[in-house]
Amino acid sequence: MQPQMIRVAAALVCLFASFVLDADGETKAPAKPFDLIEWNGGKIIYGVDYYPEHWDESQWEKDAAMMQAAGINFVRLAEFAWVKMEPVEGQSDFAWLDRAIKVLNARGIKVVLGTPTASPPAWLYAKYPDIAATDENGVRYRYGARRNYCLHSPNFIAATQRIVTAMAQHYRDHPGVIGWQIDNELGDPLCYDSYCRAAFQRWCRAKYKTLAALNKAWGTIFWGHTYLAWSEIPLPWNTLGKVHNPSLALDHRRFHSGATRDYLKLQVDILRKIAPKQAITHNDMGMYDGVDYYQLNAPLDFVAWDNYPMFGEDYSNYFGPGLAHDLMRGSKNNQNFMVMEQQGGLPGWSIFWGRQAAPGLYRAWAYQGVAHGADGICYFRWRTSRYGTEQYWQGILDQDSYPNARYQIVSQTGKELGRLAHLLQGSKVVSPVAVLVSPDSRWAFRVQPLVKDFNYNRQLGLYYAAFRRAGMNVDVVFPQSDFSGYKIIAAPSLFVVDKTLVEKLTNFVKEGGMLILSYRSGVKDENNVVTHQTLPGPFAEMAGIAIHDFDPQTNQEQEVVDVEGERHAAKVWFDVIDPTTADTLATYGKGYYAGKVAVTENRYGKGSVVYVGTEFSSKTAYWKLVGYLASQLGLELGPHLPEGVELASREKAGRKILFLINYTEKSQTVNLKQRFENALTGTSEPAEVTIPAFDLKALTTP
Ligand code: GLA
Repeated sequence: MQPQMIRVAAALVCLFASFVLDADGETKAPAKPFDLIEWNGGKIIYGVDYYPEHWDESQWEKDAAMMQAAGINFVRLAEFAWVKMEPVEGQSDFAWLDRAIKVLNARGIKVVLGTPTASPPAWLYAKYPDIAATDENGVRYRYGARRNYCLHSPNFIAATQRIVTAMAQHYRDHPGVIGWQIDNELGDPLCYDSYCRAAFQRWCRAKYKTLAALNKAWGTIFWGHTYLAWSEIPLPWNTLGKVHNPSLALDHRRFHSGATRDYLKLQVDILRKIAPKQAITHNDMGMYDGVDYYQLNAPLDFVAWDNYPMFGEDYSNYFGPGLAHDLMRGSKNNQNFMVMEQQGGLPGWSIFWGRQAAPGLYRAWAYQGVAHGADGICYFRWRTSRYGTEQYWQGILDQDSYPNARYQIVSQTGKELGRLAHLLQGSKVVSPVAVLVSPDSRWAFRVQPLVKDFNYNRQLGLYYAAFRRAGMNVDVVFPQSDFSGYKIIAAPSLFVVDKTLVEKLTNFVKEGGMLILSYRSGVKDENNVVTHQTLPGPFAEMAGIAIHDFDPQTNQEQEVVDVEGERHAAKVWFDVIDPTTADTLATYGKGYYAGKVAVTENRYGKGSVVYVGTEFSSKTAYWKLVGYLASQLGLELGPHLPEGVELASREKAGRKILFLINYTEKSQTVNLKQRFENALTGTSEPAEVTIPAFDLKALTTP
């Protein structure tokens, strides 16, 4: 993962599961999904990302033995080994990989193979320079990194088809190869070459049919940017002042996301045709917003993703990885998923980044994934590389293969998960509330970030953390998800909306749901054009408010006074609200609009709409708001959770499996008000549970 992507991705890989890999509507379920090892009556994926090609063959057997001793039953291989598998154009060599798989399989370790297209060989670039992507300044990327290819280069497509076909034909019936990972962390870069420009023009034509429709939708009369031929349509590349038509720019993001999915689908189709018995996934990047994961993941059998929590500034802040897990689960309609890369050591490229984590955290993160619906955890990577860009990106083992503290904790975790596999099999996360993520809004904010400090992911995170802190599981829904069944949906800064989404949300409220919107909601239509309605546009009536004035961040914090007179600092954006039918929940405390309304609630149909016109500076204000709203709905709040202690649960057939995880360096106590059985020891825990530092409790109802 590139450092920049990692930061965007916010955080986060491999454990176990009762893989019920139901495909969604679009996807044909493979005849045989991940065929995992029966273990104590359950099934579990617990693995490592392994690079046998980096090590002398004499090391392989020792590695496999150490893996087996740690409870590992799964490895991902080969996702960067194109040059080893096709050393000469059109000539495959899988002998080395066959030998590696044999060594691993002999130790009971199954294999997922990565298609190696993220890192094409130097010979391919030398022979076909046009496979490299071009940046927005028109400069073609040089050979040397990875993920720098053009999605529309015919030579790259042909090379992709050849290597994927060769791999599929060779491994289609291999009993030790249970599935495939397509490419590696698809998304970047956006390419601005002539292939991509022509493809964008074709995409526009397919979408709008006529230039008149396109010109109208994009409002191209502004500055007279009207197009009279499809071939005139530019990419939003570097122009003076970097400005471009926001409607064109949003469509370009959609085009790129769709092209990325088409490229994934090209590989999926080859694998499904040749190797129909093996399951297919991809390693997503959690909070990364370059692609719409709901769209990207549709052709896959199940979701996998890469979890690097250490990029959070504070390890006890578990909300970031939690939100990313839940978003990943939500991107395939809450089907259980797996972590394909779980941070297994200190991250770093040319320098070491961050602080080393206490060994217990490597276990805690694995359990966090499981608690949020992961049925597989796979650590990145088995052993730190001796060479290359990632010399400073630690694996579980360091270069000397010493069974260090990380290896010990990973071994402990493997054995425990084996014991829990039976209980977890078939269990799911059930959540009363959801946070709505809108890919269109995220992209539109990328095009026009509004104010310096605005951050869409942070907005999602604030509402998410408030629900979590109140002890509730939280789902993440996408515009296409099923909204029924939730008591509350928080849709912060829902900036770009089409009629379908407005209708779905309206029905959700009419049927009794509570919708929480925040500032800058309902501002743009699906073309990224500003609404002519009074804000919040299509939500004004159901929210019972009108907004005729707003104050973007002035570098000064505002103050918001709630109905109890408590004052909360606020920042980023201040909508000055005129309630029409809504009740006031809070007002502003300072400036020319002191006393004017900041937060409202409006009854609508059988439900209600809450509008938060600003962003509170502290999490406490969100906890208070969510606590108040949840109690109004009669929603059961969880136990009081100390800072840095997470409660998350799965359930099956009325049986709950609770995970209480302590990410802090001191022992913590939580009063659950009832006794649970310790799922790892089989003993009864007191109602007041003590969780040692960097430790956890896996609990269940008897
Ligand atoms: C990503 C990639 C891996 C590796 C790690 C660490 O997750 O998928 O190949 O590069 O980041 O950087």
